[in-house]
Formats: sequence, structure tokens, C-alpha cells
Amino acid sequence: MKDKFYITTPIYYPSGNWHLGTCYTTVICDALARFKRMQGKDVFYLTGTDEHGQKIEKVAESAGITPKEYVDKQVDILKNVWKTLNISYDKFIRTTDKEHEEAVSKIFKKLYDKGDIYKSEYEGWYCVPCESFWTKTQLKDGKCPDCGRDVELTKETSYFFRLSKYRDKLIDLLENNPEFLQPKSRQNEMLNNFLRPGLQDLCVSRSSFKWGIPVPIDKEHVIYVWIDALSNYITALGYLSDDDSKFRKYWPADIHMMGKEIVRFHSIIWPAILMSLDLPLPKKVYGHGWLIMDGGKMSKSKGNIADPIELTRRYGADAIRYFLLREIPFGQDGSYSNRALLTRINADLVNDYGNLVSRTSAMIAQYFDGVMPTKPADVLDEDKELINIAEGLYNKVADYMDALDAPNALNEIWKLFIRANKYIDETMPWVLNKNGDKERLGAVLYNLAEAIRIGSVLLQPYLTETPEKAFKAFSIPDELKTFDSILKFGGIKGGVTVTKAEHVFDRIDIDKELADMDKYIEEQEKAKAEKEVKTENVVKLDEITIEDFAKLDLRVAEVVAAEKVEKADKLLKLTLDLNGATRTVVSGISKWYAPDDLVGASVVVVANLKPVKLRGIESMGMILCAEDDDGNLSIVAPVKKVKSGSKVR
Ligand code: MSP
Repeated sequence: MKDKFYITTPIYYPSGNWHLGTCYTTVICDALARFKRMQGKDVFYLTGTDEHGQKIEKVAESAGITPKEYVDKQVDILKNVWKTLNISYDKFIRTTDKEHEEAVSKIFKKLYDKGDIYKSEYEGWYCVPCESFWTKTQLKDGKCPDCGRDVELTKETSYFFRLSKYRDKLIDLLENNPEFLQPKSRQNEMLNNFLRPGLQDLCVSRSSFKWGIPVPIDKEHVIYVWIDALSNYITALGYLSDDDSKFRKYWPADIHMMGKEIVRFHSIIWPAILMSLDLPLPKKVYGHGWLIMDGGKMSKSKGNIADPIELTRRYGADAIRYFLLREIPFGQDGSYSNRALLTRINADLVNDYGNLVSRTSAMIAQYFDGVMPTKPADVLDEDKELINIAEGLYNKVADYMDALDAPNALNEIWKLFIRANKYIDETMPWVLNKNGDKERLGAVLYNLAEAIRIGSVLLQPYLTETPEKAFKAFSIPDELKTFDSILKFGGIKGGVTVTKAEHVFDRIDIDKELADMDKYIEEQEKAKAEKEVKTENVVKLDEITIEDFAKLDLRVAEVVAAEKVEKADKLLKLTLDLNGATRTVVSGISKWYAPDDLVGASVVVVANLKPVKLRGIESMGMILCAEDDDGNLSIVAPVKKVKSGSKVR
């Protein structure tokens, strides 16, 4: 039976903000998955999307569609990115999949039954207009990070996971299993920054929004982020479903790969959840570095093309994959610039590899009428180094891949190509041809073709299209494209047809291309700016009918009393008169109005708004205000005096 190999990427937020940096995790995992498949392992490569949460709920709402409609669209876009980059995942899990939702619900219940989930109060900073809780560190200058408005310290009831209970076990895990979390620097970071100072229990439910998996024991709450997201690694295999055969076969994961910013969730929270479920832990968690641009984490920002689809359209999937795998020292950050990408393509792919393949195939086509020379009987001293590098290559590359070090694995393969190019300079086949030394010429070209075959076989996990061009030029059959076939030099058969390989990689005129990229970026930015202006000038929300508007009961009211709400500096408690009926409304306007300014004033109130409790006071409606971009706020009031209780229409 084949050995299994289970590898995962994090599940992606369906944010639409995918750029070259976000593709990094998936491309590395793809190279590893392909490498392990070629080594004969039974590979299961999982990726997917993390689709729940308030952010998605809000984005969808402002786009006027349901969250599911929104994520469906985003998932199609993301899958297209993976297709363009030739990502060979075995399963794409979505946290909105029915199987996942059912299993997460069971997982939550199991943790609860074990006594590891309990109900308590969650204290956070609440933004009334956004209906969002924030932790103190999430606030921007003490204000809501989403809308920039004032926030209030408020309490919400939530469910908590007893993370603190697992602290000692987690410390033991990280201290005594150095293989579990790599690179080593991340172990120290987790131990010193999080585990040793003490762990707090984790809030795992929310009741302030709805877009999530309901808490099985309390339908007022949805399961909040990490239990939902992390569980994908086992629900994708059918854990707690009718068919858990894949779970039994592939779990524990051999590698969970992710960027460094989410290592904490994978090396602390996830193992604790698994411990609570009495499940084996993943064998390795690897936190890679970031692709950075202008000194920060890469984003879709000015100055560089970061769109993987556009880059692939220009230079091909292999060039983009190669850059990502080669340029970033593994475990560390690596920089991106358009120039760095183009320079890599020209230096490594065009010069070292592409030219080697074209030149060698062209010489066989020309000097031997397109027929591969036979394997030479003798090995001369000048052949030895090339042959030794080629024969020893598989083991070196495999060792680097076991250490998850793709840049060095590629570096080893390039040593062979560089040596082969030098071999051409040393042996000078054109001189051998001129001198009529056909036997030596045949031997040299055979050795070169075989070196190209061995290098190209090893390139297949990284470059998914180009090695085939070399195989085609030298008529390499499938059985000579395997790792087994490259352990010994001399596999290529003489007599097969050889044709000149064209356009393996085309040379780029870097300055011209950079100018063209700048033009493209400029056009994109112009189009974006025009679109923004257009949408600003038109109504942003969907149109409503007069019947929709009629659902609002807007009334003129007179403020008969106003006072500050105790321990809430932003809020005023207003007592309104509506033609003899009084009601209380709590309003966040004390920054702009003193209570005394308001008594006697006319206001407009949404009289049929569902009542809410704010600071223990039942607020029966909302008064209308206008606010400009500079933060000036004014209560909306009738220009002429009308009776209180008058309908606003
Ligand atoms: N949804 C969470 C993961 C939940 S896993 C249970 C998430 N998603 S993400 O879309 O923000 O990130 C997906 C992957 O892209 C992560 O591995 C992240 O580190 C990676 N990258 C995003 N930007 C990156 C760079 N600029 N460079 C390298 N990788 C980066 O986090």
C-alpha cells in the first residue's frame, strides 16, 4: 500500500483581494503535493474558502445580495486563479458546504459535552451603527476600525473554549517536539509571546450577527471563526460524517502550511481543539514568510502588477510559479517587484534552461538529421562532473523537499543546467562537427539531452507546462519522466526523433516590458478612479419602491426632556412627545448636542423601529441626523413648525 501524504493550505477569505502574495501558500503546497505524488505517495491536497462572519455579511448587504450569493461569486473567481496557476488540489472545501456545517455543529457539541465550552460574558468595545464588537487592540485611535466612530465598552454573552486548560500540554508539545512547528523561530515566538505568559479562554460564539453556523445548543448564537475555520482540516475528510474513510486514511495531516500571521491559531488553538476531541495532532505546522512589497505585506497597491491572472497571461503559469518558489528564501520574507520577476525569468528560465533545451535540440536536429545519437560507450573525464551532478540530483532535491525548502531544491536543479551550459562551452560541439568527429559529437549531445531529461523530470512539480516542451523535443516517453528513471544516467534511447524546441521561454526586453506594465497599471488606476466617481455620483443602494418607503413610520416629535446616560459619554436619553404620547429614545449624539439645547426642539423619529436596549434603557425608535465627511452632525428637523406626531412623507 502507498504511504499517505495529507497537505493543507489555510482556507482563504473570499475577499476578492487576491494577489501574488496570497497565491504563495497554495503554490508551495502544490509543488510539494506534486513532488510527493511523483514519489509514489497517496497524496491528499486540500484547499478551500473560509466563508462565514460579519464582514461577509456586511459586504454582501451593501452589494444588495445574500452572503451566499456573494461568496459563490468569490469562490468562482478564486477557483479560476487556482486553475490559471495549475493548482492540483484534491478537494476544495467551502465552510458553507452542508457536510462541513453539520460536522462543525457536532464538533462544537462534543467540545461542550466534554466540559470544554462554557457560557460567559464577553466584554468588548461596541460600535452602535456597525453593530460590531471590537477588542481594545483592534480599535483605531480608540474608534471603530470600520467606520471611525466612537465605541462603547459593552458586554455580550458568548460561549468560550477552555484554551487555558491546555496550556501545559501545549508548552510540552512545542518544547519537546521540535518537528511539530517549523521554522524554529516560530516555536520561540509562540512559547515566549503567548504560551508562557498565560493563555486566555477563547470566545467561540457571537450573537451580534447571523452569518455563521448556529451554535447547536443555543440558536441565538453562531459559531465564531476559529472552530468553524480550523475544523475544515478534518471535516473535509468526513470526520463525524456517515463516511469517515478518508479521515481514517489521511488524518493526521502531514503538513499544515500557512503564512506566519496565522501560525498562532494553528499551533495553539488547533492542537488544543484536537486534544479536547481526543484526536491525533498534525505532524507538522509550517509558517512561511510573506511576499512583501514596498516594505509591507504585499497588497493590490500602486506601482506593481500583483494580479496573478494578469501576470500569468503575460508570462505563463510556470514563470509565476517559478518566481514564487525560487525568490523567497523559505521561512523568510521575500520582496516582489516587477523588475525582480522579469530579471528572474530572463536569467534562469530563458538563459539557463530555455536556451539549453533549444540549443541542444537544434544541434541534434542539425548535425544528426533529427535522430538522437546512441548512448556513448565511453565516459571521458570532461563528462564526469555533468554525469555525477545529474545522477546525484534526485536525492539532493528530495532531501530539500523533505525540509520543505523549494528554493534550494530548485537551486540544485539549476546547478545541473548551469553545468550543462558550461559543458557546451567546454566541448564546443560546432568545432567537433567542423572537424568531422561525429562519434564524440554524438556522445556530447547525448549527454546534454540526458542531463536535460533528468533536470526536466525533476522540474515537473514546480513547472507544470514547460518540461513537457523538452520531453516533446527529445521524444521522451512517459516511463522516462519518472523519478525512478533518473537515478541512473543514460536512460534516453538513441534513434528517437529530435526536433528543435521553440519558445521554451521567450526573452523579455525588460525596459520595454516595464514601460508596458506601467502603462497597464496607469490604465487600471484610471478605470478604477472613473468607476469610483461614477458610483459616488449615483445612489449607492438598490432602488426601493414607494411601498418600501411606506413601511417607515416617520414622525415629527418634540423633545420634552433630555439627559446624559450614566457611564456612556456618547449617549443621550431623550423623552419625546408624539401628539400626547411619550416615548424614550437613546441617541449617540452627546458629542454634538448638550441636553439643554434639545429640550423644546422638533426632531424626526423612526417611530416603528424595533425597540432595542442600550445601557439597560429601552430605546423606542431612532431620531434622524445628517452627518458629513468631516464629522459634522445635525439633527434633521422640519423647517416650519408643525404639530408633534405629524407624519413625515
Ligand atoms: N481564513 C484565514 C485562514 C483560516 S485557516 C483555518 C486566512 N485567510 S487569508 O485569505 O487571509 O490567507 C490565506 C493565506 O494567504 C495565508 O496562508 C496567508 O498567510 C497567505 N498570504 C496572504 N498574503 C500573503 C503575502 N503577502 N505573502 C505570503 N503569503 C500571504 O488567513
